[in-house]
Amino acid sequence: MSQKPPPKQFIKTPIMGTKYTVLVSSAKGGVGKSTIAVNLAFALQKLGLKIGILDADVYGPSLPKLLNLKEKPKSEDNKSIIPLEKFGAQCMSMGFLIDEQTPMMWRGPMVISAIKTMTQKVLWKDRDIIIIDMPPGTGDTQLTFVQEVKIDGAIIVSTPQELALLDVKRGIQMFEKTGVKILGLIDNMSMFKGDDGKKYKIFGESGVKKTAKEFNKEFLGYLPLSEDLRASADNGEPLTKSKPDHEISKLFKSIAERIKQSFQ
Ligand SMILES: Nc1ncnc2c1ncn2[C@@H]1O[C@H](COP(=O)(O)OP(=O)(O)O)[C@@H](O)[C@H]1O
Ligand SMILES: [Mg+2]
Repeated sequence: MSQKPPPKQFIKTPIMGTKYTVLVSSAKGGVGKSTIAVNLAFALQKLGLKIGILDADVYGPSLPKLLNLKEKPKSEDNKSIIPLEKFGAQCMSMGFLIDEQTPMMWRGPMVISAIKTMTQKVLWKDRDIIIIDMPPGTGDTQLTFVQEVKIDGAIIVSTPQELALLDVKRGIQMFEKTGVKILGLIDNMSMFKGDDGKKYKIFGESGVKKTAKEFNKEFLGYLPLSEDLRASADNGEPLTKSKPDHEISKLFKSIAERIKQSFQ
């Protein structure tokens, strides 16, 4: 009788130059991952942490726009890459290497190789935390990260609607199966407050909190629809950086405090 092979152990390589590495993910696109990744990073910076931001969305990079970064990263040896620096954050994105309007027509193996370059060849230096802005879904990029990179925690972002929550459940299971700790869930676009003072729950109510409870995960908080947050994303300066006392920045601050605490 043949013996059962031992369960596959993934060899997870840490990103060098940082103490902690945290993913901001969601199984769905357009729910606010990139906006939250960047604003959360600067909220953590306000708490005294040295931050790095890695945009892992190879097909739809957002970091060049979110931080208005136009230059190309340099290399001293043609092998490693020096990350760009903005507002004290070290930054890396596939979008720094290609033209803004060039579509990325890459197959899986090329994406995997790009992720390996960004996690192994970027000279992150002296960082407390790197926040990774993930693409949507559970595809090649996600699998490469959860199986091959040492990740200290994942944050899952969702809107409260049923359609998005289905994907959240898939995302939770992917992290659980690969042994990545889920730090908690964020409910984005939870409501819109009109000029009339009324709260409009456009995407439904409390779905993310309920899902967190169902899977025994932390619920990290609500972020309402905010024109200021959207405008700051388009202007290239995150709200938590430009207006740390804004009510939305304060919500990010309390989420950042919980993330920081989870590593103490
Ligand atoms: N809480 C919010 N209030 C207003 N606009 C938001 C909010 N969160 C995200 N957005 C906007 O929604 C769009 C999608 O957000 P993005 O961060 O790019 O999502 P993802 O990375 O999940 O695809 C962007 O135009 C962004 O500015
Ligand atoms: Mg994005």
